[in-house]
Amino acid sequence: MFGVSVSGENFTDRVEETRRITANFESGINTILISPRRMGKTSLVKKVKEIMDSKDRLAQDGGNSPTGGVSMNIKVVYMDIYDCRDESDFYDRFATHILKSLSTKVEQVVDAAKDFLGRLAPKISISPDMATEYAFSLGLKPQKNDAEYILNLPERIGQRRGIHIVVCIDEFQQIGEMPSSLLLQRRIRSVWQHQQHVSYCFLGSKKHMMENLFSNKRMPFYQFGDMLYLGKISTSDWVSYIQSRFVLSGKSISAEMASLLCQKVDNQSSYVQQLAWNVLLETEKETKMQDIDNGMSALIAQNSALFMQQIEGMTSYQLNFIKALCAGVQTGFSSKKVLETYDLGSKSNITRIRKSLIEKELVDVDGKIHVLADPVFKAWFTAAYMSI
Ligand SMILES: Nc1ncnc2c1ncn2[C@@H]1O[C@H](COP(=O)(O)OP(=O)(O)O)[C@@H](O)[C@H]1O
Ligand SMILES: [Mg+2]
Repeated sequence: MFGVSVSGENFTDRVEETRRITANFESGINTILISPRRMGKTSLVKKVKEIMDSKDRLAQDGGNSPTGGVSMNIKVVYMDIYDCRDESDFYDRFATHILKSLSTKVEQVVDAAKDFLGRLAPKISISPDMATEYAFSLGLKPQKNDAEYILNLPERIGQRRGIHIVVCIDEFQQIGEMPSSLLLQRRIRSVWQHQQHVSYCFLGSKKHMMENLFSNKRMPFYQFGDMLYLGKISTSDWVSYIQSRFVLSGKSISAEMASLLCQKVDNQSSYVQQLAWNVLLETEKETKMQDIDNGMSALIAQNSALFMQQIEGMTSYQLNFIKALCAGVQTGFSSKKVLETYDLGSKSNITRIRKSLIEKELVDVDGKIHVLADPVFKAWFTAAYMSI
């Protein structure tokens, strides 16, 4: 399963992280979850939400539940702000999702909107074509001085209903891209830090989160919460997951082949799933080396249009830098030998090339070591541009 966040039997491992985030949610500790794209942040937080929701349902069941009807009184709200372009987009998304997630019926949403946002005279539109799911928007056009009122929405609901609310905001780095971002961050933090009934969980990609929002003492969100870096799922966890899925399809894959599969894509979650699916399709009964090679070729082909886009408009120096990385050079780019061998221009040029490739998230730096962030990009580039 790939291309969407995963759950249920498609979700593997993350035992430690699940426990830690669940504990944070239960104790009202803010959480900041950071990883490169497609590593599994969204899936993980949605899983924790599911766990909390089911605990809550059990408690609501009263006498039949193991907790004897003691409600946890914690509600998790999830929202994604990747497409919010400015402050008022954000407030609208924030308010809508909170009201919607905390209500089970349409009528409740409407009542809650009037009740908790009445001052803003929200325009509520509901499209009731579907019985259970419904679209809902508030059409808020908040004035600046209404910001605090909206940002305090979960606090006011939590207070009134005697519940604790965890607000999860995915692609949080988007906040850093909005106009007057710093002002906005100050405003948000100044309201949220006083809330007693709400805690927050921010999800975002490493580069943006770090540089723009959390790494600097002067930034409003500095030390806002427990900062977690989501690492890779281990090979042994992947192997047992992959093997079990193959068995379900009446096929088999050896532990060696399955770990080779992980290795090909550097254990990156989305790619492991995508490659495993390709290999499953290639495999007749038991996976052979050739099936993995074919699966990998298919994976490269599936992504090549995207990779083409990524290198479009690059200078030949930038392309040469990537060539050097593909050839295994990791450090010492401004040495005479590397400069000449790969035709990288002058020493000062290197700084500029590095910066732009890191910004594009093509290159990862760890100390002085530079590597291509994407193993499939590397394979594609090598095949397309490194042939003699
Ligand atoms: N715990 C997991 N178990 C199995 N596959 C996962 C897991 N987490 C992520 N994946 C794979 O990675 C892909 C991207 O996951 P997602 O949660 O959307 O990542 P992110 O939010 O970090 O971009 C999923 O579609 C799935 O293929
Ligand atoms: Mg995500």
